[in-house]
Amino acid sequence: MQWQTPQILGLYQQAARHVLPGERVTLLAHAWQCGRLAEKSGAPEKLQLAGWLHDIGHVWTMAHHPPEDADPIGHAALGGQLLEPLFGQAVSEPVRLHVMAKRYLFTTRGAHARKLSEQAQRSLALQGGLLTEEECEAFEKHPYFADAIQLRVWDDLGKKEGWFEATPQDALDQLQALIRAVQATTVT
Ligand SMILES: [Fe+2]
Repeated sequence: MQWQTPQILGLYQQAARHVLPGERVTLLAHAWQCGRLAEKSGAPEKLQLAGWLHDIGHVWTMAHHPPEDADPIGHAALGGQLLEPLFGQAVSEPVRLHVMAKRYLFTTRGAHARKLSEQAQRSLALQGGLLTEEECEAFEKHPYFADAIQLRVWDDLGKKEGWFEATPQDALDQLQALIRAVQATTVT
């Protein structure tokens, strides 16, 4: 399936109504918060867009299936597949790897793990649990390791109730502008 920008915006319009089980903010507010955290960190636009769209696998699944069918195992892989043809690997790889990054942080930083939301802690086992030392070392060598870790940190921070300075429409407009900026510099 070939994705286009209007389809992504349509999905995120629906995301304004969806809250993942165990979470407290809508998927749109979560996407917006991650995008804002990336922007505030001075991240390049492609990584900002990865922040915005990292849960597109969940957003797509919730738009097409009832919530109980949401698949925590596959949402990162699905997101990577959906995003690569449109934006290239600088966007899709951090998204594809953001669950691996969660497993890495959980394995290597206990303090980080304790701050995770209830849902994020519950889904860890389903997502493969802790990594072995060899898996950690292999992941550290991945060219998008640092971006995936950074994205994961924003993911875990971007779940604050009451922090959504934009209206849903303003958020969608910001997303559209960022998509256009990234597409202007992307050859896929
Ligand atoms: Fe997320």
